[in-house]
Amino acid sequence: MNIQRWHQRFKNLPYLLTPPIVSLLKNKWRDRDRILPDIPDHELYKPVFSPWLGNGEFGGIRDHMSRFTLVSPDRAWVLYKLAINAKNLKGDFVECGVYKGGTAHLLAHTLQNRDVRLHLFDTFSGMPQTNKEFDKHREGDFVDTSLETVKKNINYSENVLFYEGYIPDTFENIDVKYVSLLHIDLDIHDSIINTLDFFYNSVLPGGFIIFDDYGFESCYGARLAVDKFFSDKPEEPICLSTGQALVIKS
Ligand SMILES: C[S@@+](CC[C@H](N)C(=O)[O-])C[C@H]1O[C@@H](n2cnc3c(N)ncnc32)[C@H](O)[C@@H]1O
Repeated sequence: MNIQRWHQRFKNLPYLLTPPIVSLLKNKWRDRDRILPDIPDHELYKPVFSPWLGNGEFGGIRDHMSRFTLVSPDRAWVLYKLAINAKNLKGDFVECGVYKGGTAHLLAHTLQNRDVRLHLFDTFSGMPQTNKEFDKHREGDFVDTSLETVKKNINYSENVLFYEGYIPDTFENIDVKYVSLLHIDLDIHDSIINTLDFFYNSVLPGGFIIFDDYGFESCYGARLAVDKFFSDKPEEPICLSTGQALVIKS
């Protein structure tokens, strides 16, 4: 059969096929509209399910802390869920790197009416000296805070203990035996190594160590410190798409 005869025979095919294809697509679209509104929190598919954008308990915490935190809602959500899971272990919560108290407020909220303490470590007056080889941050960054500011920002003061000064000096003589959640948001190499050296053995099996700054180029020293520290440990840090890294203690 030559080309001309093919053409004669099939030239009307696109016109014949168009109506059924259009009708098929219309039905598919109608089905989608019929199913999706019945799914709880359907509006949070953006495009994947993003519960940190919703309301409820977390929404209230997120909105309150947004005025004085550097931590984005998706990272705050990870921390929130870890805190809820860690509550089943019999250990304290520790945060190193508090700044104005955003994530500390979140952690304190999850511990309300519970016999668990939250220990907060920071200079509360800005970054100490940094390591020029690894850190982009410089001494004096985050200076616009104070212990009083943090105490005002954290609504839940029960069981919250403050340690003002330079890490690791402030670790001396503290009364923390078991840790179920260690949140490290220090951004700089030496501070992170010193914190891991001190607290690693106190973290309970099944407890969490979460690093806020691991994946950020501006905190390259943080990733270096974490990878170096865990190179001879049984745990393998999990790099999250939020920029955080998570360690589940063996
Ligand atoms: C990125 S900020 C913490 C952000 C906070 N988690 C939030 O919710 O916004 C880092 C903090 O680490 C503190 N920091 C870093 N190294 C420290 C050290 N060696 N001793 C005490 N504080 C330190 C800085 O003072 C700064 O407040």
